[in-house]
Amino acid sequence: MDRQMVYADLNLPRNSGLDSSLPPSLPKDVCQGPPWHQFALKFACAGIIVLILIVVGLSVSVISLIQKSSIEKSSVHVQENKNGTTERPGLLECPKHWHPLPGKCLFLSPTLSSWNNSLANCSTEESRLLLIQDQEELKLIQNLINEEGILYWTGLHFVLSEKSWKWINGSFLNSDMFQITGDAGENRCALISQKKVFSENCDSENKWICQTELKSVRNKECPDC
Ligand SMILES: *[C@@H]1O[C@H](CO)[C@@H](O)[C@H](O)[C@H]1NC(C)=O
Ligand SMILES: *[C@@H]1O[C@H](CO)[C@@H](O)[C@H](O)[C@H]1NC(C)=O
Ligand SMILES: *[C@@H]1O[C@H](CO)[C@@H](O)[C@H](O)[C@H]1NC(C)=O
Ligand SMILES: *[C@@H]1O[C@H](CO)[C@@H](O)[C@H](O)[C@H]1NC(C)=O
Repeated sequence: MDRQMVYADLNLPRNSGLDSSLPPSLPKDVCQGPPWHQFALKFACAGIIVLILIVVGLSVSVISLIQKSSIEKSSVHVQENKNGTTERPGLLECPKHWHPLPGKCLFLSPTLSSWNNSLANCSTEESRLLLIQDQEELKLIQNLINEEGILYWTGLHFVLSEKSWKWINGSFLNSDMFQITGDAGENRCALISQKKVFSENCDSENKWICQTELKSVRNKECPDC
């Protein structure tokens, strides 16, 4: 019973393949041959099927290996991108002599100038005088200032007509961010030191800080881009 089943199963693919190309009498003759002949035929069919199974099995495992390794590769890429943009965004992209900060690069001038000349010096297509986003950024900027007592112009000045401190991008200063030591009034501009933010006459000469925002970093707020 079992033997017959196996014989029928194994012969099916071979018969259907042979039917079209060989005369119908040949399989019959083969089947009526001596028992060893039938046995050899079954054996050969089984061998072919086993071979096919091995080939299929091998190719499936090769394909899944390839897919697995490419998934691993791309997850490594994602990991790298994550670190590159969230943990240390743009750290590798600053021009020479510029200091990396999350989302921007800073240039601390070696020379002294008035506020309006500093403003002009920073004003290129890519850079402008320093804007400070929040207290966290203020801390990072102050950490870059390695000498106590050195003061740098920022992009913050007092606008008399509006009686307010204003950033050069047009936004008003959020007074929760920091206190400005000194007068608020005509021709006053803001300086940053290691510890504090000062109001100073805009005509006095000081170092200054330019910033450039990294436009290549995606998912970053960059309203002026
Ligand atoms: C990415 O950061 C994680 C920790 O947040 C660290 O374990 C991993 O090594 C970093 N990968 C790269 C490529 O820097
Ligand atoms: C800055 O102001 C001074 C005088 O207040 C003026 O001589 C100078 O030209 C100004 N510089 C710029 C770049 O506007
Ligand atoms: C800006 O200042 C830097 C440093 O003092 C100087 O090298 C550069 O020539 C200045 N650029 C302009 C456009 O004034
Ligand atoms: C201008 O700069 C300040 C300080 O970084 C920031 O809080 C504000 O959102 C900016 N405004 C615009 C319109 O970009």
